[in-house]
Amino acid sequence: MNVISVIIGSTREGRFSEKPARWIFEHLRRRGGVEARLLDLRDFPMPFFDQPLTPAMPGRTPYQHEVVQRWTAEIAAADAFIFVTPEYNYGPSAVLKNAIDWVYPEWNRKAAAFVSYGSAMGARSVQQLRETMIELQIAPVRSSVHIPVATLWAHYQGGDVDKGLAELEKPATTMLDDLLWWTKALKTARSS
Ligand SMILES: Cc1cc2nc3c(=O)[nH]c(=O)nc-3n(C[C@H](O)[C@H](O)[C@H](O)COP(=O)(O)O)c2cc1C
Repeated sequence: MNVISVIIGSTREGRFSEKPARWIFEHLRRRGGVEARLLDLRDFPMPFFDQPLTPAMPGRTPYQHEVVQRWTAEIAAADAFIFVTPEYNYGPSAVLKNAIDWVYPEWNRKAAAFVSYGSAMGARSVQQLRETMIELQIAPVRSSVHIPVATLWAHYQGGDVDKGLAELEKPATTMLDDLLWWTKALKTARSS
């Protein structure tokens, strides 16, 4: 069974991120051989990274913060990730970047895909995250789901968000196909 975790990239009151996260999570759950998990950063209220040793430091002792330990355990348990990311000033949210920064070896040699939104459909945020993935030794898949701004506006104006998301079935299917291929390939390679 491949564990794939969907990460909700915003903790803001009134956030949009929860809607596309639950939508892609439901898609994922329908796939065979997948244990889908939903990780809500509201459940992991970590401090800003403040440790003397970096997460990548070989042989460092585990960080003591209980929430960080829970978060790290979730990342360790997953074989791949779907980051559902807003775009804040052309990048991902600070809360998502901080959650990424707390962990290192547990991210390594796994796969990731992205669901994004914003005025340019979150493309700039995903581009920044793709570069971050390289340092984390995560393989970011080519396909992603970029949600048109009309669907984001629907969230703010009481419109039909579900209808907007339903129009994204094709890119969602392509992205999940791609992610599952990489998830299986990397899991096999990690265990060999
Ligand atoms: C601090 C901040 C910066 C933002 N910067 C951008 C931006 O650079 N590009 C963009 O398309 N939208 C930007 N937005 C608008 C967000 O796309 C919009 O608020 C979205 O709903 C945020 O995601 P969330 O609701 O899941 O938190 C910004 C919003 C905030 C709060």
